[in-house]
Amino acid sequence: MQMKSAVELQKILAKDAHTVIIDVTRETHFQAHHIVEAVNIPYRARQEGSSKNIFVDLFKELKLAFGTPIIVYGEHTGCRLAYMAHNAIEELGYTNVSELKGGLHGWIIEGGTTEPKNITHVTPVSPVVSPDPITAELLKKGYAEFKFSGYELASNAGSAFADFLTLPQQALEEFKPPAGYTPTRLCTHGGYLAYAQPEKGRPTIENFVISPVARELFSESFAKYPQAQAFISAANALQVSAEKTLRELLTTMESTSPGITQAFFPEGEELDAAMWFMKYPHTDTKDENGKMSLCRPHFDLGALTIGLWENGPGLRAGSSKDTITYPGWKSGEALFLPGADFWKVSTPGAGPAWHEVIQHPNDSWNEDIARLSIVFFMSHSKDSMCSVCDERHAIVY
Ligand SMILES: [Fe+2]
Repeated sequence: MQMKSAVELQKILAKDAHTVIIDVTRETHFQAHHIVEAVNIPYRARQEGSSKNIFVDLFKELKLAFGTPIIVYGEHTGCRLAYMAHNAIEELGYTNVSELKGGLHGWIIEGGTTEPKNITHVTPVSPVVSPDPITAELLKKGYAEFKFSGYELASNAGSAFADFLTLPQQALEEFKPPAGYTPTRLCTHGGYLAYAQPEKGRPTIENFVISPVARELFSESFAKYPQAQAFISAANALQVSAEKTLRELLTTMESTSPGITQAFFPEGEELDAAMWFMKYPHTDTKDENGKMSLCRPHFDLGALTIGLWENGPGLRAGSSKDTITYPGWKSGEALFLPGADFWKVSTPGAGPAWHEVIQHPNDSWNEDIARLSIVFFMSHSKDSMCSVCDERHAIVY
């Protein structure tokens, strides 16, 4: 399967007008922004009134010669739509098909232009009006620290999570999502997740996602173990506080981004949010940059991430992967990290926040745990994060 980088595609387009670029994202996404001259054939296209997938039929309507250079792209790295479209076109007998590495986000990051709206992810753009204090911080640094009254609750919930993880493995297994369960939105993720990452030279990372689904699926198991009961109680108290603070924060941004509160807190609709508790084991491996990396530089998919708590200074953030540094994130504060979609409801240039996690000398909980952190992910309801991507929450470069 051939891949082309954004830089390669830019060179190809500069000297060759014959390459056909196919955007396989949904129509509304394409209408918002796409690579100039791309053709939209949504991979999930359905026949009207039926569930029949008509991607191949629509592609055949282009009547392309079999040797035509074709480049397909989706929204981001690892997009399954692009992968499946690539396969489907090759199965028709096309011999010169490639996939754009990094998808549309990779294209934008490398300075490619999009239409009808041209997006700049990294370079801050001055808003027309004087920005509110949070937006001003986001424009300046890509992220913002803010006062969080629930900090004590977060600290308690972090401790409760560490206690929860001391349950026997057999008990932890009870909190795993059922086999075959596929989350489609943030709020439908849930439960105990363990990621083995031997290919990255890292030990298994354990997370627990608190969401309405987790509360419902595992209610009996939460009641069964005292550590689990204490954990969910502490997490619930934290969630109430996090939502309240976030609503206040967005309210202060209304002057710059009218409607932003309603986008995240739609009346009468369920919030699309999930709170992730993360445990990173110790690493003794330095990466090629000499860092004890627990998570490489990336920005998050979806709308926004709030760093609620960490047990030591491990998270670094910035407006680009080259400007990542330790934030001034102090006790009593939370950290606002816009995701890839935040521009859709805010000021262009306010994010996304690149971030990485490294193991810091002060970043240790006990012999088993290097780092604990709690993050709150949230999407705005109208155009939620990619619902088909089975990558983890992040874009990693
Ligand atoms: Fe992240």
